[in-house]
Amino acid sequence: MLQDKRILLILTGGIAAYKGLDLIRRLRERGASVTPVLTRAAEQFVTPLSVSALAGHKVYRDLFDLTDEAEMGHIQLSRSADLILVAPATADIMAKMAQGRANDLASTLLLATDTPVMIAPAMNVRMWDHPATQRNLTQLRADGVTVVGPNDGDMACGEFGPGRMAEPLEIVDAVQGHFGPRPLKGKHVLITSGPTHEPIDPVRYIANRSSGAQGTALARALLDLGAQVTFVTGPADVPPPVGADVVRVETAHQMRDAVLAGLPADAAVFAAAVADWRVDGASDAKLKKVVGTLPTLQFAENPDILATVAQMTKGRPTLVVGFAAETNDVIDNATAKRVRKGCDWIVANDVSPETGIMGGSENAVTVISDTGVDSWPRMTKAEVAARLARQIAEALAT
Ligand code: C5P
Repeated sequence: MLQDKRILLILTGGIAAYKGLDLIRRLRERGASVTPVLTRAAEQFVTPLSVSALAGHKVYRDLFDLTDEAEMGHIQLSRSADLILVAPATADIMAKMAQGRANDLASTLLLATDTPVMIAPAMNVRMWDHPATQRNLTQLRADGVTVVGPNDGDMACGEFGPGRMAEPLEIVDAVQGHFGPRPLKGKHVLITSGPTHEPIDPVRYIANRSSGAQGTALARALLDLGAQVTFVTGPADVPPPVGADVVRVETAHQMRDAVLAGLPADAAVFAAAVADWRVDGASDAKLKKVVGTLPTLQFAENPDILATVAQMTKGRPTLVVGFAAETNDVIDNATAKRVRKGCDWIVANDVSPETGIMGGSENAVTVISDTGVDSWPRMTKAEVAARLARQIAEALAT
């Protein structure tokens, strides 16, 4: 619950501002008080009247509004909250925040404050991917700003990809996480994530479709609960979580070495899609195409990193969690896999192409442990991560 928490909610100008109205309701439902601030551009998407009606509070709009200054100066306004939430956060407000600009009420409040700041970015996928926005994002995280989302998905502009604002309930969860207890403080969690690349020669490799999204989301969720996170990642599509100790690897062998070097840990979660086989005797030189002849590749088995750690007799993490990506008989296969590998939990999911899970933003998982089989409804990977992180915290607390 957010009883008695004071949120200064800054809505900036994007189509996602309409979700800001729902966000206000959800925050208030949980007991928070919401003081809204609208930028000029936000007023093009939602009206001050609807915002103030839902917030049950006056809307602040202008830096030079003398009545506001007489009632409450902008410095005081920025500091009288427990959290400043910017949702939606446009590329423009992120750029202003990263540069420390203060040329309207919203940016001035953000510069004048010593209150924690959380942002929920929302913008076109190209704008999000632009190196300038990514630079600003890195800067904001380094400045201590908490970032929620954005999610992958269809966008109002007709494109698809990252840039869609996190859903109001995800943002409320993040706000609750911010104020909530940090049950993993002092605990070390090691996570593997992403695919591995197994070289054929110096320019070619064998890979798989893992994006690294679920492992990255889990690392973020564990960081939110206060864990120290070692994040061993293959070449993933999504950037690694800021705040984790990131170790980048390419092959399964390198991943195994990095994992063993990263122990001891209280918990280890193996979310990586490790290649089962590598090319035996990968060539040091590029294989030449010879007309009329096809090359033959010999495979060798890769080390099973999960099984290696799960079966350690000394220094085994208290909790070892594996993932099982299956396309058929998901629960039977995953149940057998848990026993075969010797891990405590298996998080199983169906990665048949029609589910859209591999590389997508949602997941439907079943958690298998020695106490039984628990199937969760389909939800975003961030929600799966938050729930799994809470269960890991509970398991380590007992
Ligand atoms: O056997 P399978 O690849 O389905 O097992 C999946 C689980 O095992 C995942 O948790 C994955 O990270 C882990 N794994 C591993 N090393 C391998 C193969 C899989 O850690 N070589």
